Amino acid sequence: MNTENSSRTIEALKIKAIKKECDLDVNGNEKVQKPVMTKNTFNVVDFLDDDEFKVEWGKDSSSFAKLTNNPVRRLIEQMRIEPNPALQMIALSIGDPVILSDLGKPDTVKSAIIKCIEDKKFDGYTPSYGTESARKAVAEYYSRPSKQVVYKPSDILLTNGCSQALDLCITCLANPGDNILIPRPGFSIYKTLAGTLGINVKYYDHVEQNNWEIDVKGMESQIDERTVSIIVNNPSNPCGSVCSKKNLQNIIKLAEKYQLPIIADEVYGEMVFPGNEFHFMSELTQTVPILSCNALSKRFMLPGWRFGWIAIHDPQGHIKNVRLGFNDLTTRILGPNSLVQGALPEILSTTPQSYYDDVMKLLAENADIVFENLNKLPGIKPIKPSGAMYLMVRIDMHHFPQFRNDMEFSQALIKEKSVFCLPASVFEMPNYIRIVITMKKEKILEACDRIIEFVNKHFKE
Ligand SMILES: Cc1ncc(COP(=O)(O)O)c(C=O)c1O
Repeated sequence: MNTENSSRTIEALKIKAIKKECDLDVNGNEKVQKPVMTKNTFNVVDFLDDDEFKVEWGKDSSSFAKLTNNPVRRLIEQMRIEPNPALQMIALSIGDPVILSDLGKPDTVKSAIIKCIEDKKFDGYTPSYGTESARKAVAEYYSRPSKQVVYKPSDILLTNGCSQALDLCITCLANPGDNILIPRPGFSIYKTLAGTLGINVKYYDHVEQNNWEIDVKGMESQIDERTVSIIVNNPSNPCGSVCSKKNLQNIIKLAEKYQLPIIADEVYGEMVFPGNEFHFMSELTQTVPILSCNALSKRFMLPGWRFGWIAIHDPQGHIKNVRLGFNDLTTRILGPNSLVQGALPEILSTTPQSYYDDVMKLLAENADIVFENLNKLPGIKPIKPSGAMYLMVRIDMHHFPQFRNDMEFSQALIKEKSVFCLPASVFEMPNYIRIVITMKKEKILEACDRIIEFVNKHFKE
């Protein structure tokens, strides 16, 4: 149907709706038949000759929309708790590294993007999986020939942030009714993305008592005939943990046994505190396909630029057929921002190592401040992180009988002390809260003082 016809169709339906003739029932109420209409234009045509038809605009959202739930965003956007008006709000809730404003952006980032605007060479459409030069830059940045990891530009797909990278991986690997294994506690977007598509998730655990290492035995017990992939998030949001090499190798062994490609969410890759080691999963295998998802959002501190990528490591070509699907899927959105694609080679090649080191030093100091302060308190237990930008705190709820759960604990903390920490039940880990440690030092200290007062006030033996 052409556009003119379809707008006429809609107009005709509007007129019918306005002129609708109604019978009255014994009580004088309208007796109107109301067929349910979908937003599909072909159905509109089917209904054209039906005089009884009444249009109902915006009656309902699609089932895809209804299946979509991002608990973190929902909680933050819909939170209606009034903070204490006498205290300025300190939000330790959103993992936005831009709040770490003690460190400005390296000048190279600024000059690279300005140059692209002035050049006017990056204003048009790009291939939907990204320009050759930007893909080449990512390929070079992540290749480690000494560890037998060599990416070609064709192994790289550019995306709108790490979220879209994850979305593409899940969509490309799983069909409705399949399942993927995801971490608990873990970033909520995996379930959000899968849920919309009717893909199931099954959980494996990060074990607090074991330095948040992944329980690989438990992971194996979750695998069934509909399992198509394992998502590993290392370093972890919300734990702030970094997997040991052994732990990652055991996961890889399992993936090999069951022939499951791994989606490695490495958006906090290399973000480890001094003295800790990080390993890209691609460096540890020549057999298991690793889809490494990353972005400018965290380590490069540009989350608002919405720019990420997938780096596909599959030396044996096990998923060569799956890979064809990626290119088709990227054509749904037509690629990420062209200016950032233009600036990417310079951003990746010229940002000095000292910049990343300074960021990690600062985060490690903040983690220490929070840990030392909260570790003295009764009834709660902070768990020392090794990387990323988060710290989890366990709450022994029986010492806080006034609150039924982490949600009520967090809400009271906002109401009384204007400090917002996310209740970790949004990460499937009830009775913990997650603290973001990207704030300036004085804010972190102020937040700690307020949490100390709050805990001391509510703690019961
Ligand atoms: C573990 C993890 N993966 C992915 C994302 C999404 O990253 P992006 O903002 O690049 O979409 C986040 C954001 O907080 C995250 O914590």
